Amino acid sequence: MRTLDDIDTIGVVGAGTMGSGIAQVAAANGFDVVMRDIEASFVENGFDAIENSLDRFVAKEELSEDEAEAVVSRIEGTTDLADLADCDFVVEAAVEDMAIKRDIFADLDDVLPEDAVLATNTSTLSITTIASATDREELVVGLHFMNPVPVMKGVELVVGEKTDEGVVDLAHDLAEELGKETWESDDKPGFVTNRILMPWINEGIRAYDEGVADKEDIDKGMTLGTNVPMGPLTLADHIGLDICLDASQTLFEELGDRYKPAYLLKRKVDAGDLGKKTGKGFYEY
Ligand code: 3HC
Repeated sequence: MRTLDDIDTIGVVGAGTMGSGIAQVAAANGFDVVMRDIEASFVENGFDAIENSLDRFVAKEELSEDEAEAVVSRIEGTTDLADLADCDFVVEAAVEDMAIKRDIFADLDDVLPEDAVLATNTSTLSITTIASATDREELVVGLHFMNPVPVMKGVELVVGEKTDEGVVDLAHDLAEELGKETWESDDKPGFVTNRILMPWINEGIRAYDEGVADKEDIDKGMTLGTNVPMGPLTLADHIGLDICLDASQTLFEELGDRYKPAYLLKRKVDAGDLGKKTGKGFYEY
């Protein structure tokens, strides 16, 4: 079983918001990184996001320009999954689609050394089901980073039915090496965070849709009233409304009516208003 000392190169599948954030954090903590997405433009967007994020740290004088450049230089971008062949530990952060994730895991299983560990950043899907697409179910674990990855301290560690205890320890040690703290969740829909966060967001949306208060007052009520950094509507925009709907839908399917996504959430996603990333969600950006 591999330990932290055996991890030199980390693979990241997906160069979107989460994947690029994970790649950045891994490189910032001294690991070589191979970041893969299916199209060259997605990989380029990932590098842009990393550079923007690093610029913020430079502006806050938490990082020098040379250090920021060194972080980027440790990341190799690719569209070819075979380029992950030398990775010791891979974090998958592709779209939240079980069929796609299972395909990726089956391909990684073929490409990677047989003792390499596979983690998924899934926010709600079953680790056990994803792992069953491989012949190394005991080496598959959930490592659920929070958005924005370079800033958020917490990482949720999700233990699948077959996950080996040594892999849980390794995932924990790696997260700590990346400057994060973990908590453990069993492989149940939404784990700890999204099981609790998504109903909160949906209730905020329903309160808005049903005219309880205007959106600013709902967010103000929750930020000033309960001391969270963002109210439900601002946080939904920050996460992306499509991501919130996907997560809510999975929870609804697995856990029933109490997780039904708010009607207005669905209508906004149908209209293409996905939050900050499209310039409009509940607020305009
Ligand atoms: N790299 C990347 N993004 C950064 C950053 C950096 N170095 N520094 C700040 N940010 C981002 C913020 O997201 C936000 O984006 P914007 O500029 O587009 O508006 C902005 O920068 C705000 O930056 P500020 O410096 O003004 O704000 P703070 O640093 O004070 O706080 C925050 C930003 C840490 C994001 C804080 O608002 C917060 O904690 N919000 C709640 C975030 C949260 O709950 N995340 C978890 C969501 S759930 C999840 O991810 C699970 C998934 O499965 C759904």
